[in-house]
Formats: sequence, structure tokens, C-alpha cells
Amino acid sequence: LQTNNFLTPERLEALKPQLQAIRSRVAGEREIRNPPPHLKPLDSGFIDYPGLLLEQFRTRGDSSELSRILAVASRLRDNVDRVVLLGIGGSYLGARALFDSLCHGQHNELPPRMRLGKPRIYFEGHTVDNDSLQDLIELLENTCVDPELREERWGTIVISKSGGTLETATAYRIIRNELNRYYGNSLDKIRKFIVPITGSTGKFRELLKAEGFADDQILTIPENVGGRFSIFTAAGLLPAAVMGLDVRALLIGAASMTKRFLEEPFERNPVLQYAAVNYLMTEEKGKNVRVLSVWTKKLEAVGLWYDQLLSESLGKRGRGATPLTVVQPRDLHSRGQQHQEGSRDKVINNILIRAVRHVPMQIGMADNNQDDLNGISRKTMPDVLDAAYKGTMQAYADSARPSSDITLPAINEHALGQLMQMLMLATVIEGRLMNINPYGQPGVEAYKQNMNKILRSK
Ligand code: PA5
Repeated sequence: LQTNNFLTPERLEALKPQLQAIRSRVAGEREIRNPPPHLKPLDSGFIDYPGLLLEQFRTRGDSSELSRILAVASRLRDNVDRVVLLGIGGSYLGARALFDSLCHGQHNELPPRMRLGKPRIYFEGHTVDNDSLQDLIELLENTCVDPELREERWGTIVISKSGGTLETATAYRIIRNELNRYYGNSLDKIRKFIVPITGSTGKFRELLKAEGFADDQILTIPENVGGRFSIFTAAGLLPAAVMGLDVRALLIGAASMTKRFLEEPFERNPVLQYAAVNYLMTEEKGKNVRVLSVWTKKLEAVGLWYDQLLSESLGKRGRGATPLTVVQPRDLHSRGQQHQEGSRDKVINNILIRAVRHVPMQIGMADNNQDDLNGISRKTMPDVLDAAYKGTMQAYADSARPSSDITLPAINEHALGQLMQMLMLATVIEGRLMNINPYGQPGVEAYKQNMNKILRSK
């Protein structure tokens, strides 16, 4: 992480003792595994969970939770060609971020021989969009024509930690009926095409039990991992495994970030650096809009995931920065003007990727040079992107617009594991610096209750 000169080194230095104290506090909160009955378990379970899963996998092998997740994923992959993932908020955004950043950019369009047994993935249940769901059902009806021919089959992954979220429940009821229409009414048959992921209690689990799901056919999100912190539980890992991603590399990345957070000094600790810079920029410099500026469109959904993480964790008691994800250079041609010359309420956190996945493409020579590109014909796409980035940073520096850089070596499972764990840990640290509880989302709960009341009073 590099920071521009809008914070003095002395101010960062002065914050270090407080950061150390808060790190110890957050580390201590991990020990509250069995809280007294009047206290809800803290959602801090996410800190150790990646390491815990890896350790169990090493020591318990096939009977570990990770093996179970991988086995369920592989069964679903064997059974279906298309998967509808239902979920919202933390039960959607993590899986979406992994899909967009780590799968082939045209995954669903690839012919089966290029997808190597990985099903096409569709996301629903995160809106209550009648037409979008119908469009998907229409697609499924017209591609998965005959289950007996075993050519094209589809199934669903349903994720809801509380098991009571109306958007997801509504979509599940509809999709469940579609499964009946497609495969017939035999519950035994249909269960093969449904992977439910939920908390240890709740309406959804009750429904599943009534439908004859055994406990070992339901994957569980641990009680002490909050929804938006659940990407490295079954909520993110099962979809990741179905997508054919390297789940262990994700976990190793996340666990290594936890270790770094707990053990490294500020100078080598990206969690503390990110939290400190953004905390100071928001709380002391009034930069209330936090821009996550991603320099590849593959990371846009990671930005949306972070939007939720920051909003629900710190947007409380009239405080908390407003997150905004921008994809560059796309948004330089839309929001860029305002970020360059508009209100001075932003801090810009760039995410840069050092190495592209494919061979860099050159601009190339052409006989007709009216576009005047022959002079830079040997430059590559990454060269053009780099120039756009440097030009933007120069312009920001010239007009005193603060920014920081986070550079990933490449987009892969290990790096994503590190990045996402880093952002979750930094959000908790920032909350504690602000004296705001980063866990829980009472505002979201209020709307859920109102919505239920309104629906049932008609
Ligand atoms: O962070 C949270 O806990 C929430 O934003 C949830 O992820 C979201 O409301 C979805 O809830 P559930 O997984 O219970 O359906």
C-alpha cells in the first residue's frame, strides 16, 4: 500500500499506539467463542475461519468441513449444466465477486468443451425482479429441454444465513416450483439438484427438514461469522468450488492475511495501513466518499462486495464513509470530471494488477493511420492502461486529490483471498477506531421487518 502526501508521516506515527491497542482488542475478541446466553456470539469468527478450515482439512481429511464442501460441489457439478444461485447481500455478493473476478470473462458463453465440466452460473434472488427471473426461467425451459436425455440439467444453490430473508425465500419458492415442473414431484429426485446453505437455525432450515433434507445435505454458515463476512465459509466456498476455482488457494490467501494482520508491524501490515489511512482521511480530513477505483473490470463485483461491507459495518449513528466503486478507465469518462474538479469529499483507493493473464496485445501497425496510432504501434494494452493510471494520478496530485494504491501481483485465488480478508479485517479495525460496532446491521433489519408487515397487512 502506498499513500500520497495528504497525511503527514507524523500523524500516522501518532496513530500507531492506538492501532496496536485495537489490534489486540480485535485479536482478543476471537477468543469469545462461547458467549454467555444473553450475548449474541460476536461475528468475529471470520478472522480465524480460513485457517481453521485448512487445519481441519489437514488433520481430519475426508471428514473435514472443507472436504464436505468440495464433495457437495463436485456432486452438483456432476448433476447439472446450469446453476441458479439464489441469495442477497452477504449471501450473494461474495460468490458474485469470485465469479466475476476469477472465472473466464465469458464463462457462461463458452462451449462445454472449454468449460471443462463447470456449469453455467446465474444469480437471482438479490432483486425482486419479476421479469428478470422470468427471463431466466424461460432460458432454462428452452435449454434444459428433456431431463431424461440428460443433456442439459439445472439446479440451484440457495444461500441465506438467517433463513428468513424474503427476497431469497420468494425466489426459492418460485425456483423450487420450477424444479418440480421440470423433474417431477419426487423429493428424492429433486434434492440432488438443490444445495442449501444456511445458519444453524431459522425458517429455511425448518423448511428443508420438512422437505426431507438430512442435516448432512445442508451446508452451514457458522453462527459467529456475519453475513457480509461469510465469503470464506460455505456461502462463498461452495459456489467457488462449483465454478471450478481453487478453494484451498483462496483460503491460504485469506489465512496468510490474518497471520500478517496479527503479527506484522504497521510497516508490513496492509490491514493496519488501509484502516489507518482511510480512517484518518474520513474522520479528520472529511473525505466522506470512499472510492474504490479498480483498474480492471474483473474487480467491479469485488467493489460491490466492499460497498456492502463498508456500508453495513460502519454506516451507523450518522457516521461512516459512503463507498463508491469505479472501474477505470471506464468511469474516467463519466464520474472522472467530478472526482477531478468536484467537491473535495473523496479519498480514492486504487486497486492495480501487476500481471495480466493473457499475453499483452500490441496496438499494431495499419496502412491507414488517420487515427494516428502508428507512432505507438508497439505499445500494448497494459501500456495504455498504465499511462491512463499515471496520467490520472498526476492530475489528482496536481489538484490535491488524495489517493492510495493497492497492488495485486495478479488476479488469482490466492491474491483475492488476501485482498478480501484484508478488507474485512480493515473494516473491523476502522470500526473500532471510530468506536462503532462493525458487526450487526440494525438499519437493514428495520426495513426487513417493515416489508414483512406491509405485505402481510394487505
Ligand atoms: O451482512 C449481513 O448479515 C446481511 O447483509 C446479509 O448478508 C443479508 O441481509 C442477507 O441475509 P441472509 O443471508 O440471512 O439471507
